[in-house]
Amino acid sequence: MSQNPVPVVEATDLKRVYTVRRGMLAPPATLQAVGGISFTLAAGRTLAVVGESGCGKSTLARLVTMIEPPSAGSLRLGGIDAVHATHDARARLRRVVQLVFQNPYGSLNPRKTIGSILAEPLAINTELDAGERLSRVGEMMRRVGLRPEHLGRYPHMFSGGQRQRIAIARALMLQPAVVVADEPVSALDVSIQAQVLNLLADLQREFGVAYLFISHDLAVVRHIADDVLVMYLGLAMEQGPKARIFAAPLHPYTQALLASTPGLGSAERRIVLRGELPSPLAPPSGCVFSTRCPHADERCRAERPVLRPLDGRLVACHYAGLSPAAEAKAPGTELSEARPLARSKEAGA
Ligand SMILES: Nc1ncnc2c1ncn2[C@@H]1O[C@H](COP(=O)(O)OP(=O)(O)O)[C@@H](O)[C@H]1O
Ligand SMILES: [Mg+2]
Repeated sequence: MSQNPVPVVEATDLKRVYTVRRGMLAPPATLQAVGGISFTLAAGRTLAVVGESGCGKSTLARLVTMIEPPSAGSLRLGGIDAVHATHDARARLRRVVQLVFQNPYGSLNPRKTIGSILAEPLAINTELDAGERLSRVGEMMRRVGLRPEHLGRYPHMFSGGQRQRIAIARALMLQPAVVVADEPVSALDVSIQAQVLNLLADLQREFGVAYLFISHDLAVVRHIADDVLVMYLGLAMEQGPKARIFAAPLHPYTQALLASTPGLGSAERRIVLRGELPSPLAPPSGCVFSTRCPHADERCRAERPVLRPLDGRLVACHYAGLSPAAEAKAPGTELSEARPLARSKEAGA
């Protein structure tokens, strides 16, 4: 595994606010889609961003891929300040971070052949001649499990899984340091999901690429993630090594997400998520999760918990480690299971 000392992505207190109009007469309102997210991502590692729909995951993806600037906070890519970089430097940084979308129907031009879709990034960004481009394209197609005769075919002639292989191949053509994958397998059948996840894992080993892997489904991130960031209404609820969080989630929201994922939650400590995600236009006071948390009290409704270190990860809950729910899990803490999975980042640095 790479021990590159400079993280490929360093996000510090990233925020994104939108102004939304609600009719002709109402004053515009502000909505905080991402409310201050910090993380580092090292070469060859995978950070999974999880949370229900509407929690700000795709907005975070657009910030990290420089599609949108943050409203506040800093973003460094390979050690370079991506927010304040010059126009030319930003153009170079855009090659370092590539995006794979959930829906490859929408992201692959239906009028272009697979060969020209894959060659395009090389034609725009490199000096390679047509012959060299073709050989790179052929090599990458082989790498993602497409056959040479696919070169002249159009996106609609492929299955969903194959189209996602094409989108992944395109994202890797310029050898990016980071691929941001926004729900990359959510539109696929479960059997196909596993194939695409295995492909992503193989490509990571081969190219040393880092993934910011976004999913609402914890079962999907279970095998691919090194670290996990659990988001709720734009804020981090719990964040740290996957092995710790899956073995002993400390935030009630993480516990609820795990409990609702077939095969992951244990029945005794099932927390059922009540109600709907609150509107980000009117987020709850205090802890944003308080309106749906089974343990919430007056303090939770009044005082927003800060993200604090606890048991090898960060948690934003006043009662994590203290509440009955957390104590029920304390004996043993099941870290014997977590340790072999936890890799050098946790053990070493
Ligand atoms: N361009 C935008 N303008 C206004 N609101 C937006 C915009 N993009 C996202 N939002 C809002 O920000 C919140 C987070 O959205 P999003 O990042 O798409 O969440 P997720 O990907 O987790 O489902 C949602 O309430 C969404 O409606
Ligand atoms: Mg999304």
